Amino acid sequence: MAQIFPKALNPIAKMLVLGLPLLAGGAGVTGAAFYRSGYATGIYEVPPQPVAFSHAHHVGQLGIHCAYCHTSVEKSGFANVPPTKTCMNCHQQVWRGADMLGEVRESYKTDKPIVWNRVNNLPHYAYFNHSIHLAKGVGCVSCHGQVNEQNLTMQSSTLLMEWCIACHRAPEKHLRPQAEVFNMKWEASQYGTNPDTGKPYTQRELGLKLKKDYHVRDDVTLTNCSICHR
Ligand code: HEC
Ligand code: HEC
Ligand code: HEC
Ligand code: HEC
Ligand code: HEC
Repeated sequence: MAQIFPKALNPIAKMLVLGLPLLAGGAGVTGAAFYRSGYATGIYEVPPQPVAFSHAHHVGQLGIHCAYCHTSVEKSGFANVPPTKTCMNCHQQVWRGADMLGEVRESYKTDKPIVWNRVNNLPHYAYFNHSIHLAKGVGCVSCHGQVNEQNLTMQSSTLLMEWCIACHRAPEKHLRPQAEVFNMKWEASQYGTNPDTGKPYTQRELGLKLKKDYHVRDDVTLTNCSICHR
């Protein structure tokens, strides 16, 4: 059988052995309250960046597609941040001399990548994969919020285990047609009329239909520890 917690000092294994009994006691309650606070999770935090790159300008106003820059997000577990070359496709012409782009030109000249600070970051013992979520019709906006309106990029969800699990229990609240995963403004009613009700689809109706169409597994399977802790 595959080992679920391969490393002896893996924090989860440690927690299971030492931590869980504590949760039953009073200390656990205080711990949990702190653990859920915004301060501890980093939700709504906007890390400083070496260049004031704005999704609001590039996506919201200019309408550049997410995949123009995040090219690997549909194909791989990891969503890449674009190399400087991608910026220079435009900025060799647009805003050429601007001070705000000094770091970008410098990076291009010296061939040293811009070091962006991570916005969303899971602990190493939690396994996440972008491509499967997109293939099953979970949109960027469900996890990252209205990125198209953000000047500096913000962590829009807690990224806590309970947040992952809430959706794994009831993904129908979030599923959309796969072709719409990049769309920041999509709503279920745009899918058209539900033949069963004669009215525009609600999110729940469409979500349940897509759950079947995309063969999304049941909540017991999707909340199994070994899905996210491998
Ligand atoms: C013109 C290029 C470009 C486009 C288009 C673009 N992004 Fe980005 N994105 C970046 C860059 C550069 C960063 C790193 C700097 C930052 O975090 O703002 C980034 C960072 C992010 C992050 C945070 C990564 C982390 O560290 O956790 C998310 C989430 C994200 N983008 C989502 C999107 C979504 C969703 C879209 C489409 C709606 C999109 N991006 C379109 C260039 C782009
Ligand atoms: C498809 C073309 C295109 C790409 C690719 C592009 N930009 Fe831009 N960028 C623009 C345009 C056009 C403006 C001017 C926007 C305006 O005036 O509202 C701009 C403006 C900016 C500004 C000035 C501040 C602002 O947002 O108005 C910065 C900084 C910037 N871009 C950084 C980047 C970085 C970093 C990348 C690569 C991750 C990048 N851009 C990729 C077209 C592009
Ligand atoms: C189901 C939730 C979910 C969806 C849907 C999602 N992301 Fe993410 N994204 C995350 C999480 C969680 C992380 C942090 C991953 C980590 O630290 O390992 C992340 C990280 C990122 C990063 C940083 C690089 C990385 O892979 O860690 C970028 C860029 C990004 N997302 C862009 C996007 C774009 C663009 C889309 C839509 C095409 C998207 N994401 C859809 C949850 C999601
Ligand atoms: C908004 C809904 C949503 C959120 C939030 C979400 N997921 Fe998922 N996740 C899904 C759906 C839908 C699937 C596809 C399930 C299927 O194919 O049966 C999935 C599949 C996965 C899989 C693939 C399972 C496998 O065996 O192939 C992993 C791993 C995963 N999610 C981890 C995470 C983690 C970790 C988080 C939190 C950081 C998270 N997910 C947050 C909806 C979500
Ligand atoms: C859908 C994904 C997912 C599933 C299923 C899941 N976890 Fe997690 N788990 C995470 C993520 C993401 C984190 C890191 C964020 C956090 O600490 O909440 C985490 C963190 C943890 C931690 C560390 C908490 C801490 O305080 O540092 C423990 C222990 C844990 N999980 C145990 C479990 C057990 C036991 C199960 C099965 C009953 C399980 N997980 C199922 C995603 C998941």
